[in-house]
Amino acid sequence: MSSSIGQTLKLSLFGESHGAAIGVVLDGLPGGLALDLEEIAREMARRAPGQDNLSTTRREADIPQIVSGFFRGRTTGTPLCALIQNTDTRSGDYGTLQELMRPGHADYTAQLRYGGYQDFRGSGHFSGRLTAPLVFAGAVCKQLLAGEGVSIGAHIAAVHGVRDALFDPVTLTPGQLDALARQPFPALDKAQGEKMRTEILAAKYEADSVGGVVECGVLGFPAGIGDPFFGSVESVLSHLLFSVPAVKGVEFGLGFGITELRGSQSNDSYYYDGGEVKTRTNHNGGILGGITNGMPIVFRAAIKPTSSIGKPQQTVNIAARREETLVVKGRHDPCIVQRAVPVIEAVTAVGLCDLLLSAPQKQTKEKG
Ligand SMILES: Cc1cc2nc3c(=O)[nH]c(=O)nc-3n(C[C@H](O)[C@H](O)[C@H](O)COP(=O)(O)O)c2cc1C
Repeated sequence: MSSSIGQTLKLSLFGESHGAAIGVVLDGLPGGLALDLEEIAREMARRAPGQDNLSTTRREADIPQIVSGFFRGRTTGTPLCALIQNTDTRSGDYGTLQELMRPGHADYTAQLRYGGYQDFRGSGHFSGRLTAPLVFAGAVCKQLLAGEGVSIGAHIAAVHGVRDALFDPVTLTPGQLDALARQPFPALDKAQGEKMRTEILAAKYEADSVGGVVECGVLGFPAGIGDPFFGSVESVLSHLLFSVPAVKGVEFGLGFGITELRGSQSNDSYYYDGGEVKTRTNHNGGILGGITNGMPIVFRAAIKPTSSIGKPQQTVNIAARREETLVVKGRHDPCIVQRAVPVIEAVTAVGLCDLLLSAPQKQTKEKG
């Protein structure tokens, strides 16, 4: 099923951008997890639209209403369901998109898949708005993981070729990740962050859009979690990451860059730090054989330029069966990257929670 994922922690996503509400069900959470609702609201606000002149002007409060699985401040252990109302809809902007297929968006493929019954208003179920309930689910999972000493954070690694510094995958600290979460436009190098903002505004004023890269780091996740092959930590996280609309690439550790090294350079040498096994480099992003090795998990996701742009584009009218020129109306993000940062963190938290809750007891103890 397309709208559900997870082994032990099962997530179901539902709703359309201009329907009554969107939401999520998380089934498999342990009972008794105290939820900090203010912290959840802070996470929702990081993704919410209309916060600055870099994103869509759609205004949504994005207040999750928890309708089940939560009682006296704690999860009950039964399905946790949250609803988020859609209030600022302007469906008239989307009238022509029943017939005129936006290049780069899901209009044509949705038409093929659902035979015209799909809700096309505001991109329907394919809207980036569906990432709001994902952020809710991620915020819950982050709190569970925080109790286990795990922290997750991300930054904008690039926008339209303007690059930020990258995480040091060996020395990354929870303090660095926390500081990024407090920045509305999280970049490690402030000056590069300003250049990225300029790129976004330049695209916006030309009725165009730009894409970029989000880099995410995870600290404190236990070693020895994950499976070889299909249950590999890379596979579990990639499945979730590629589910985020507009993600077109994912790489762990050095990723494609590792192909430029020799084995003698790419291998991460082991050493003992006190009693703990660590690696001196972390080109493999904290995962070997699909299983975590205790080093920071580091990966990057490539986000494409927003497809809905105001510039005239060539497309087809599927009702009239002819080629036409399309100028997309409606309120759209000239760049998705900065809004995708908390979404990437959220799906990472969901995947890691599921891995942790699904983990069998270790088969053998490490031999001294
Ligand atoms: C936070 C977020 C906001 C988005 N906002 C827009 C938008 O304003 N306009 C748009 O065309 N696409 C937007 N998207 C991306 C589309 O939903 C996505 O490109 C589309 O569903 C096609 O899917 P694909 O790009 O994964 O193939 C957004 C994605 C995210 C994650």
